Amino acid sequence: MDRIKKLYKAELEYLKDAIKNGSSLFHTFTLASLNANSPELRTIVLRDLTINPLQIYFNADYRSPKVQELINHKYCSALFYDVNRRVQVRFKCKATVHYQNDVSNKVWVKTALQSRKCYMGPFAPSQKLDEWHPNIPKEYLKTDPEKKHSEEGYINFCHIGLEVLESDILHLYHDGHIRFKVDNQQNLFYLSP
Ligand SMILES: Cc1cc2nc3c(=O)[nH]c(=O)nc-3n(C[C@H](O)[C@H](O)[C@H](O)COP(=O)(O)O)c2cc1C
Repeated sequence: MDRIKKLYKAELEYLKDAIKNGSSLFHTFTLASLNANSPELRTIVLRDLTINPLQIYFNADYRSPKVQELINHKYCSALFYDVNRRVQVRFKCKATVHYQNDVSNKVWVKTALQSRKCYMGPFAPSQKLDEWHPNIPKEYLKTDPEKKHSEEGYINFCHIGLEVLESDILHLYHDGHIRFKVDNQQNLFYLSP
């Protein structure tokens, strides 16, 4: 068991590093949510991670379909894969959407102007358009907004926490794969790869 405890700790370190490290293959992950009865997948940037309880965080436009899906059905899955180290991390999670509250505000004040403009678009993400539009104010295609103007984006900004309920980690090795699970009581055990 010591072996998988060590591997688990190491993966949490890789995830922590990936928050600021854009070249880490854990910097983005695939998030699956439930839309009525069918799953929806999309790529997301990992923005934060806390331990005990383990939670991962990301930012989103409150108007996007994923946010409504996570409000309607808070159980979701997050998938990371590092193709260089050949490690897959699957998390079963419970989502909490922070919108217009202390948590979202704390993150917003630290959000760079360059990122803030992504929340200033006139359209809801995934909305049908009659013609091309980048969904950021066109005057900021090549520049960033002034801080004062950027505050208009806050109405569309939310910060989402995903509490990890179960982890499933798979390391591919030429001489024998290792797969293990961390359950909701923090028990670690091997799974068949
Ligand atoms: C590399 C990459 C990173 C992305 N990061 C985010 C993100 O952190 N948050 C987000 O809401 N959308 C992000 N997106 C866009 C989503 O994948 C998706 O296209 C958009 O949010 C609409 O998703 P929805 O219709 O499922 O809500 C990212 C896309 C890519 C390609």
